[in-house]
Parts: sequence; C-alpha cells; structure tokens
Amino acid sequence: MTRSSAPAKVFLFGEHAVVYGEPAVLCAVDRRVTVHAEEAEEDAIHAEDLSVTGVTERGGALTGEADELGYVRKAVEKAREEAGTEAAVEVTISSEVPVGAGLGSSAAVVVAAIDAVSRELGAPLEAERVAELGYEVELSVQGSASPSDTYASATGGAVYVEPDVEMRSLDSSGLSFVVGYDGGSAPTGEMVEGVRRLTERNLVASGVVELIGEVTRSGVGAVEENDLDMVGELMNLNHGLLEALGVGSTSLARMVWAAREAGARGAKLTGAGGGGCIVALGGGPEVLAGVEAVAEEAFRVEAAEGVRQE
Ligand code: MEV
Repeated sequence: MTRSSAPAKVFLFGEHAVVYGEPAVLCAVDRRVTVHAEEAEEDAIHAEDLSVTGVTERGGALTGEADELGYVRKAVEKAREEAGTEAAVEVTISSEVPVGAGLGSSAAVVVAAIDAVSRELGAPLEAERVAELGYEVELSVQGSASPSDTYASATGGAVYVEPDVEMRSLDSSGLSFVVGYDGGSAPTGEMVEGVRRLTERNLVASGVVELIGEVTRSGVGAVEENDLDMVGELMNLNHGLLEALGVGSTSLARMVWAAREAGARGAKLTGAGGGGCIVALGGGPEVLAGVEAVAEEAFRVEAAEGVRQE
C-alpha cells in the first residue's frame, strides 16, 4: 500500500488568460488531498468524505459521472499506462480541499493519485512527469485546460507558468494568504467555455485576456523582488479584469472587498470563478476576521511542498 499527498493552489495572477497561452503565477498552499493506492483484484475508488469529492456512494462503491470521479479514473489509467502494466488498483481519497472552488481540487486529486498509483505499481515518477501526466488527464476530462494547476500541485511553492514556453519555481518566502470560501462552486470547463464564447464574439474581451498577461508579466517581477505592495496592487487589477470577463460573482466581490477593507495588500478571486474562493495577500488576523464575517469559511494558508509520499 502507498500513500501520496498533493497540495491545493491559489492563482496570484493569470487564470483564464493562461488557457490562451498568457503566463500565470500560482502558489501551492497547505491544504492537501491524500490518496492511498493498493493493488487489488479490480479497480475501485473510495472516498473518506464524499462531500469533498463531489460524487455519491451506492452499495459501497462510488458512482456517478461527477467530474472528480472522471479525474480519478483517468489518473489511475495514466499511471498504469506509464508503468506498463495492467494491474488493478483500489484508491481511497481524503481531502481538505473544497471541490470546484478555485483551489485546484481536481489537480491535487489527479497529482496525488498518479503519484500513489505509480509508486504502488513499482514505477515512481519525478514530480515534473507527474505534472505532465496530470495535465493530460485534466485536458481529457475538461476539454480545455492549462498545465498551471497540475504543475503547481506537483512541484509545490510559487511557480511561473507560460504554456509551451517556460515553467519554473519562484521564491515563495513572504507569501501568506487568507482564503475566503463562499460555499459555492462552478465547473471549471463551463467557466472556461463561457470566457471562450465571450472572446470569440467580442474583441474587447480578447484585449482583456492580453491585459491579464501584462499584469502577470509585471506580477512575476514583483514576486521575484518580494515587493508585496506591488503584488497586492496587481492582484486587485487582475480581479477587475476577471470581473470584466464575466467570471466574478456577488459573493466573491463581497469577500474581496472585505479583505481589502480589513487591510489586505490585495485580493482577487482564484481559479475559474463563478463562485468558490478568493485569495487575499497578507494573512493578518484582521484580514482573516474581515473575510470570515462575510464568508462561509475563511482560513490562512502558506506556500506548501509539492506532491510527496506520506
Ligand atoms: C482553473 O484553476 C484555472 C483556469 O485558468 C483553467 C486552467 O488553467 O486550466 C480557469
């Protein structure tokens, strides 16, 4: 039996625009998904807390076409293919990451599952390879995806991702965040599709995507110089641009403003949007209390290690 865990992530800059090849900056954070894998007579997927996997249980087995389940099935297939075997595996998931809420729950599940299954099958992989396979899984389940979430979850810490150009680690010292969660979620694929339709019918929206790329290019410099005031200012700009693309919501805006009014250096939605989470830079108690007052849940997070064996 093997056990691997992988972290959630927040986007500092660049979600949605990264799907069009613009760069993004993300940070893996210390809420994790853990996957146990064990060779078995036939494949099976179990979850310790079904509320965190978005699937249902009937007669002891997980059923349904929910996205999360599709991600796990594909991850098992990929790891098995890579190991060059047909052995069946039973996986059990436990998670601290809300589903479909912008924290990269699907990437963390996929990355942890690929790592655990490949170890169980005697063919452990480097984190970069886990990230590549994880991206293939996200792409096949979502239809449209960037390599950002899986790379951040596999390698950990803060990362710069420019699809087909460069992916690298950044110094994450000094980065701490408050995450606000409105209790809601939105399917990533649908949110990505909505932005695609908008950019196809409206040239101004394509310009907004390019502007988000500009924000990220400035933002990576600010992260590298540890200029946290500038990082926060650019996060605020990025949030405005995401709202312009139609992926904001009333509850996300409420949490963003609560964080800013409580003294956060900057705040924005994180991930696909439509509902779910915001991320505020600066994890002071006032910010936590301010966000908590308007959120379903709020918590502090820091940069976290990538995928690891438990
Ligand atoms: C989802 O966490 C981030 C998006 O940019 C989609 C992706 O990059 O695959 C919306």
